[in-house]
Amino acid sequence: MIIVPATVEHWEVLSALAKQTFDETFGHIYTPSDLETHLNTKYTHDLMVAEIKSEIVYFLCNDDDAAARAPVGFFQLKPNSRNELMAVDEFADPCWELHRFYLTNATQGKGGGSLLMRFALEKLKEVGAKSLWLSVWSENFKAQHFYEKFGIK
Ligand SMILES: CC(C)(COP(=O)(O)OP(=O)(O)OC[C@H]1O[C@@H](n2cnc3c(N)ncnc32)[C@H](O)[C@@H]1OP(=O)(O)O)[C@@H](O)C(=O)NCCC(=O)NCCS
Repeated sequence: MIIVPATVEHWEVLSALAKQTFDETFGHIYTPSDLETHLNTKYTHDLMVAEIKSEIVYFLCNDDDAAARAPVGFFQLKPNSRNELMAVDEFADPCWELHRFYLTNATQGKGGGSLLMRFALEKLKEVGAKSLWLSVWSENFKAQHFYEKFGIK
């Protein structure tokens, strides 16, 4: 597997992958119309381009077929992000958010998530991040277990 930076030219690839992985992960807990609204509003050209420009965004790609290099996962790290519950003395600046971290269903459980997370944590060190936070659904135990493994709790 290889890790490739996203540029604005990749906005459609990111949008499609974000939609696919959101649907695979959370599709079952939304009504069809709420899911459709979410998928149609959160991954538009303008939002994707703005996020790629302002965040650190990388793809995880299969490299077994060099020509295809299909993206199968991605992360987005958002700078200067905190929510109202986070005190500055507890979460020092610069504070970053792990905005999205997703692998396709077919890619999970084979070590790709760990590879991508180690890379993301290195990037945070490089940019001098002092704090990191993320949101995870209370019933997404797989992701919670995964994050805890990397000391994120
Ligand atoms: C959570 C996720 C990123 C983990 O990536 P992955 O490639 O499946 O994980 P890895 O194969 O590298 O495994 C790393 C660890 O993840 C956890 N994990 C992986 N599969 C798991 C499962 N089926 N059940 C519980 N924990 C699991 C374990 O802690 C595992 O450590 P171990 O190998 O020492 O047991 C991935 O499953 C994913 O993208 N899930 C859907 C999207 C999602 O929920 N994103 C988070 C939104 S907040």
